[in-house]
Order: sequence, then structure tokens, then C-alpha cells
Amino acid sequence: MRLELTRRYALAASHRLNSPHLDEAENERIYGKCNNPYGHGHNYIVEVTVSGKVDPATGMIADLGELDGYVAREIIEPFDHMYLNKDVEAFRDHVPTTENLCMEIFERLKQFPSARLVRIRLEETGRNSFEYAGQGDGDER
Ligand code: NI
Repeated sequence: MRLELTRRYALAASHRLNSPHLDEAENERIYGKCNNPYGHGHNYIVEVTVSGKVDPATGMIADLGELDGYVAREIIEPFDHMYLNKDVEAFRDHVPTTENLCMEIFERLKQFPSARLVRIRLEETGRNSFEYAGQGDGDER
């Protein structure tokens, strides 16, 4: 019996959309006010979905406390109340769009030991969300 478990987390962070691959005028044209020099913030919602067998002894896929601890260490502590462009190594030369942030979160959580990471859904605003399920390299657990 395989089920999916989704847990929601909240994360506040700031960023500036400015690509090193584009010149100043292109950055301004493409990103608009998201290119403003001093950045802006979002209250992101991160949904983490894992799957696995239901343990017959506990009746659970994974211990929520263990998942919370893992997400806190890998995502919340390094990202919450940070300026993503400078405080997160991966975004120093990589534009921190929500697409890229969603993939970065997936990469950081995919080693969760107690259940298989299925997907990350990242909400940037009430109107935008992104989902990433990895490259499908067959890590079936
Ligand atoms: Ni933004």
C-alpha cells in the first residue's frame, strides 16, 4: 500500500530577479519591477510530498517530526528571512526565480531518508505556484 503525504511549510525571503546572462535593459524589460535594485519579499508556501509504504506498526508513511526536522535544517534555516541572491550560495550566479527555487528545494530534500520525495510545490503568491518532481532518475523507494 503506497500513499502520498503532503506537508506545508511557510518561508519568508527576499530576492531580486536579475540574470547575469542578460544586459541591464533586458533585465529591466523582462523582469519589470521584480528587477528593482533593492529586491522585494515573498511569503512562500512550500508543499513537500513524500510517498512510501504505510508502516504496519505505526500506521504512518513517515514520522512528521522527522520530516519537519529535515525541512527545518535543509530549507527553513538557510532560506527563511534571507536575501536569496546573496545568502544562498546556489543563487549567487543563478537567478532566484520561483522556478529555480522550487528545483533547489527539491534537490536539497531528495535525500530524505525515511520516505521517497515525490514533488515540491512552491507558492510564490496566491496567483503563482510551481511544481517540480525531479528528473525521474528512478529512485524508487
Ligand atoms: Ni518576486
